[in-house]
Amino acid sequence: MQQNKRDRKLEHIELTDKSQTLHASIDDRFNYEPLLSAHPEKGEAMESTFLGKKMNFPLWISSMTGGTGKAGHINQNLSKVAGEFSIGMGLGSCRMLLESDEFFSDFDLRKNIGDSPFYANLGVAQVQECLDQGRIKQIEDLVSRLGVDGLIIHINPLQEWFQPEGDFLKVSPLKTISDFLKATDIPVIAKEVGQGMGPKSLFELMSMPIQAIEFAAFGGTNFAQLEILRNSKDLNLHSGLTRVGHTALNMVLETNKIIENAKTKIHCDNFIISGGVRTYLDGYHLTQLSKGNAVFGMASPFLKKADEGFEELHQYVTEVTKGLVFANKFLSVKE
Ligand SMILES: Cc1cc2nc3c(=O)[nH]c(=O)nc-3n(C[C@H](O)[C@H](O)[C@H](O)COP(=O)(O)O)c2cc1C
Repeated sequence: MQQNKRDRKLEHIELTDKSQTLHASIDDRFNYEPLLSAHPEKGEAMESTFLGKKMNFPLWISSMTGGTGKAGHINQNLSKVAGEFSIGMGLGSCRMLLESDEFFSDFDLRKNIGDSPFYANLGVAQVQECLDQGRIKQIEDLVSRLGVDGLIIHINPLQEWFQPEGDFLKVSPLKTISDFLKATDIPVIAKEVGQGMGPKSLFELMSMPIQAIEFAAFGGTNFAQLEILRNSKDLNLHSGLTRVGHTALNMVLETNKIIENAKTKIHCDNFIISGGVRTYLDGYHLTQLSKGNAVFGMASPFLKKADEGFEELHQYVTEVTKGLVFANKFLSVKE
């Protein structure tokens, strides 16, 4: 026997005791089918088309911040992996670019991203303000200068309500989006920021001619909670509100119901399933379960690695995409 084979056999004997699993630890979301595929080739992709663009993996870098000292290198790192792995990316709020170009370079990432889907981001309150003041041209200019494919509108009444400097929504977000779609041809994605959305909001959005809905569901970064932590006033009385919302699984099941029961045409069944998605198995499970055209998004897991450095982020995305391809060959989702 060769030396390394002997070592392996010895290691197997030594590690057997530590490698016992309990029935209760099984991941019951999947069927494991070991007979049906060969191993993935090195560098194999999962090509698909999403929002009219080719993607190599059903993966999305969810919107994060820009325009602070640290954001520059984080955004550079994120956009480089988005380009290299051919995955989608949403920018963090571009609000400051409506006022000044000081931090334009933090957001000016198309050259890194190549032809992958790439979207700007504004809060629904800013969109409403631009509509009220006849400044939609400013948003159109921003979209054109950044070379993005469209605009993500984030809708976060709960976070804004908790924020001392938060925006006041004068009309419903639905009306703002509807007015915006009438005023411009900019393709729109609508998203929450970490609480998700209930079935009535989802139905209304799916009935609109928007590009996609990003879930930003409950279970990950919770901005209502974050604002309570930021606030110097004692807001404990309101802490119950931080726990309302919808998980990504709940939103997949609700959107599936809407698709199945639709009596008239649904305009939007493109979903970025995000909010508390922490592993590629979570993402694979949810995208496979969805009856729409779905990719999965993550924010904070990417942020951590992007802040550590490009190598760390690159290694992380390499492993996530490798795992996804493996899962796609050997796992199917239990209905
Ligand atoms: C540091 C940070 C900044 C964020 N900034 C924005 C933003 O500007 N616009 C937005 O739409 N969402 C923003 N988000 C929300 C994320 O896009 C995402 O919806 C949310 O964090 C849930 O995903 P996660 O659980 O994977 O973190 C931000 C998230 C983080 C962690």
